[in-house]
This record gives sequence, structure tokens and C-alpha cells, in this order.
Amino acid sequence: MDKLVIRGGNPLTGSLQVSGSKNTALPLMATALLTDGPVSISNVPDLRDISTFSRVIQVTGTSVDVIPEEHRVVIDASSFDRAEAPYELVKRMRASFYMLGALLARAGKARVSLPGGCAWGPRPVDLHLKGMKALGADIELDQGYVVAKAKGGRLQGGRVRMEPSSVGATINVALAAALARGESVIENAAIEPDVVHFCDMLSAMGAVLDGVGTRTLRIQGVDRLQPVSFANCPDRIELGTFMIAAAISGVPGQPVSILGGNPDHLGSSFLESFERTGAIVDIDSDVMKVTAPEEIRPVSVKTDIYPGFPTDLQAQWTILLSRASGNSKVLESVYPDRFKHIPELQRMGVNAIIVGDEVVIEGGKSIQGTNVMSTDLRASVSLVLAGMIADGETHVLRVYHLDRGYEKIEEKLFAAGIDITRVSYDEWADPA
Ligand code: UD1
Repeated sequence: MDKLVIRGGNPLTGSLQVSGSKNTALPLMATALLTDGPVSISNVPDLRDISTFSRVIQVTGTSVDVIPEEHRVVIDASSFDRAEAPYELVKRMRASFYMLGALLARAGKARVSLPGGCAWGPRPVDLHLKGMKALGADIELDQGYVVAKAKGGRLQGGRVRMEPSSVGATINVALAAALARGESVIENAAIEPDVVHFCDMLSAMGAVLDGVGTRTLRIQGVDRLQPVSFANCPDRIELGTFMIAAAISGVPGQPVSILGGNPDHLGSSFLESFERTGAIVDIDSDVMKVTAPEEIRPVSVKTDIYPGFPTDLQAQWTILLSRASGNSKVLESVYPDRFKHIPELQRMGVNAIIVGDEVVIEGGKSIQGTNVMSTDLRASVSLVLAGMIADGETHVLRVYHLDRGYEKIEEKLFAAGIDITRVSYDEWADPA
């Protein structure tokens, strides 16, 4: 297994490049199943979740060519012959559940493993199922699998309301609706940039959509879609993570350049909160310059759906607040128990306590390096950030979580001045 070893205290001085968005690339890949012929997707990050999803798609008989050095994936579903997503793959990555909508659209039937919970707690799929039913699918549960069949072999347009607004369910139902007979309406649809970009790809393939980026998404089903070449958008969570890295490890007065991100995709709440900490943000086309403040002001946040503060950035924000000149809070309203990183951070001396769905953070305490364990993707990167500002050496174990969502993060940070290396280790070795 691999771990990251970070010697804290070095300033972040160089520039950082943002990769393509993981959470957007996955639905774009699923969309390729809705047509015959080569669909080429560029700006795809070289990540474990992308290779996992490629395997999921390949199970259907579809050809998937991942070209990591070009950050491109070419998917051709002309040879599609199996409407199934097996447990062995779905359990590795919940987003594999996008296969339900894609397979129902493509084949009028699907057998997809239920994803189960995730590292920080239960994550239901009831809205995905409700949406498929609204489009005329018969759904049965069989030994951990969702078995879905469209009446008459093709879905019918229908109306479904998302409560709460869900990124995954909106995308899944839109996939299913794109080739259904008649119009579908998704009320209280998610408007996250991932959803909008996915809708743009569907439209480029010939789908008929209305209300993209609003809470009412209308999809007029068509008989067929065309193959396209489409560019994925930059990863907004990686951009936010790098902005926080610059604020905590940058040298005041010396801006850190972050290249290739799209700040609009972060939403107003994150950008406003970030500037209130005292960090300075300067944007010039696709280069963002972030200057660390002399003193970080404590800024409490509450996670929410877009354009609210992204839940995928709250663990990283906690590290920023641990550096602040006062006390503050992070309130998690999307996934109220998403705090697996807190006990690990406490071991490093971060004074943060969980009170219900909030974390209360005392700023200004020193952080010490030690061995800490990655538990999930965003929790892991918060441990890396903590290691960058800790006294001494931090070993972040089980970095396979991090590898799911941050492309070559140690190489990017190393090139920008951080003392960080990847090392193999034996998890079960006795202490020396
Ligand atoms: C996506 C992102 C994830 C991010 C999350 C919230 C991907 C691959 N993952 O996950 O990184 O943290 O958005 O921005 O894009 N819900 C239900 N029933 C459902 C589905 C969701 O109650 O059937 C609830 C969830 O419990 C949660 C809320 O809806 O409280 C939002 O979740 P959702 O937007 O669906 O998250 P994901 O799409 O799974």
C-alpha cells in the first residue's frame, strides 16, 4: 500500500494546475452509452475512479479506450450487448449507479447492483428509483441488485420531484429520459456545474433539453443520439482545495498561481467565504492568483447545494479554520455525519469537536505531524493539508482514497515547494 510522507512547514511558492473534473467525467462517460459510434471525451483526469468506471462500462460489451497521457477517453457502444453493472465493481464506486439510467435508456432494462453505504454513512438512492418509476420502469430488488424493466421495452416521459435536490439522481433520470418516448420533467433538479456540463454534452449529442441550470429540467425524448467529441470541465473541488492550500501555506505578499480552474463553478458562497478570511483572489482569464493573508480570519460556513458552500470542501476548510485567529464552525447540512476526518485531525492536535451536525474549531493551535489514516476522498486531502502546516513529519496512510479523486497530487504539490513523497508500506508490519 502507499502512503504520503509530508515534512511540514515549507511554503507553497510555485503554481498548481487543476485537472479535469472527476465528478463530471463520470456522467459524461455514462452518456456515451446512449449512442453507437466513438464518443471522445477530453480533459479526463487520470484517476482510479475513471479506470473503475471504464471497467463498469466494459462489462456491457462496450469498447472503452482510456488514453491517460492525452487525458482522453474514447467510448464506442456499437458492440453493447449486456445491461448489467455487477456488485464487484459498483461497490468500489457509488457513481457506477449512473449505469441504471444509461442502461434503461439504451436497452430498456438494467440489472445494477445497489451501491450500499459509504465511508461516512448511509447514502440513499431512493430518488434515483423514484425517477425511473416515474418514467415507467418496473423496479424489483433481487439479491442486492436493482432489476429494472421499461414497460414495452422503452421508457415513457414522466414527472418527478427531487426532494432534496440530488446531483446523482438528476443526472441518472436525465440519462434515462433522453431516449424515452415523450417529455420528462425533473422538478427541483440539481443545478451543480457537473449537472449543467453533463446536460451540455447530452444536447451536443442531439438531446432536447430545456431549463438546464434551473430547478425545472425538461427533457424531450428522442429516438437516437449522435456520437460527439466533448471537453470535460475543470475540477472545481480541486480548485477549491488548491485555494485553501495557498491560503494556509503561501507566503503573504507572494501570490500562488492556480491554472486551468473555473472559479464560477465553486459557487458564490465558497468564494465570498474565502475572501472574508483575508486571502486575496485575483482572476485573470484562466489563471487565479491567491495571496495568503498575514492573519486568517475565522469564517464559519454551512454546506449546502450549489451555489452554497460545497460539502466536498468542508474537510479542507476545517484546516483553514484551524489556522484562524479565533473560533469558528463548519455546519454540514448535506451529509450531517461527514466528519470522519475529525478524529484523525484531533490526533494531530487540531482542536475541533463534533457537536451534532457541526464542528467547532479553535483556531491558532499548533499542529503536530504523526501517522494518520485516510478514510475517504475529501477527508484524505484534509490530512495532506494538515501535514503541510504541521510541525514535523506526517504520514498519511491508505492514500488509495486520495488516488480516487486527486490526480498526482503529491507531484503537483512537490513542484510547488511542498516536501511530500509517496512511499510503499506494509500496513500490517509490527512496529520496529
Ligand atoms: C455528488 C458527488 C459528491 C458530492 C455530492 C453533494 C459525484 C460522483 N459525487 O454525490 O462528491 O459530495 O454530490 O454535492 O458526483 N439523496 C437522497 N436520496 C437519493 C439521492 C440523494 O436522499 O436518492 C440525498 C443525499 O443523502 C444528500 C443529498 O441528497 O443529502 C445530495 O446528495 P447527491 O447530490 O445525490 O449526492 P451524489 O450525487 O451522490
